[in-house]
Amino acid sequence: MRLVLLGLPGAGKGTQGDRISEKYGIPHISTGSIIRESIASGADLGEEANGYISKGELIPDELAIRVVHERIIQPDCSRGWILDGFPRTVLQARELDQRLIKSGLGVQMAVDIRVSHVEAIERIAKRRMCSSCGAVYHLDHYRAKGKGICDKCGGDLYRRSDDTEETARRRLAVYMRQTHPVLHYYGQNGRLYSIDGVRPIDEVFADVDHYLQKLVEEGTVGEAR
Ligand code: AP5
Ligand code: MG
Repeated sequence: MRLVLLGLPGAGKGTQGDRISEKYGIPHISTGSIIRESIASGADLGEEANGYISKGELIPDELAIRVVHERIIQPDCSRGWILDGFPRTVLQARELDQRLIKSGLGVQMAVDIRVSHVEAIERIAKRRMCSSCGAVYHLDHYRAKGKGICDKCGGDLYRRSDDTEETARRRLAVYMRQTHPVLHYYGQNGRLYSIDGVRPIDEVFADVDHYLQKLVEEGTVGEAR
């Protein structure tokens, strides 16, 4: 299974990516999470990316492409992958296709999780993340049981530095200008599937899973690379 998850910041890509990964046993690869981990650990990638991410701008294409390329050649990706937050430009989408074309194992489906800008801002403002395991919560809809503590691992919850309202608005504008054309790219060759993302997480997942069943029926889930 080789999927890309598209959608505005806050649409629920990370949330659904985790669910798909859990059900199908395929790695969920979030470029944003990889960059945040690199910033936290002081790695070179983090230093290079920090200035962009903190302003809500995209990191340069060649850097993002390198991050994904290095990740999808790892052994745990042999049965496929779920990319979340990549590709974010048409150039990234083309480059991904070109790199995968030789193996015949390109992107099978691009799932667009649709929410309004108002909903996206509300979700981002109330999101809290676990500093230890990365679990995602929401102050109203998906609260942690203990105040500021992750239900899964007991880690401290924090607010992402790019989740301020000002930076979130910037991220939405960047999405519309640079990432929205990627929908058209996948739509042109019949790989785009749109989902209404403004429903409870389980219902959104049921819709995503309905489309994933097509891949299961085609026998393309779990194929070896
Ligand atoms: P990234 O980390 O990918 O951020 P994003 O695209 O802005 O998306 P988010 O993570 O904010 O939202 P999400 O869709 O994952 O929503 P979530 O599931 O958390 O990228 C960050 C930055 O990294 C970029 O700005 C850029 O600088 C850089 N970057 C990354 N990739 C790059 C690339 N390829 N090229 C260049 N630069 C790149 O959910 C949000 C909230 O809503 C949570 O609180 C959740 O609990 C809640 N929620 C989820 N689903 C529902 C639901 N159905 N109903 C109610 N609440 C829900
Ligand atoms: Mg995310």
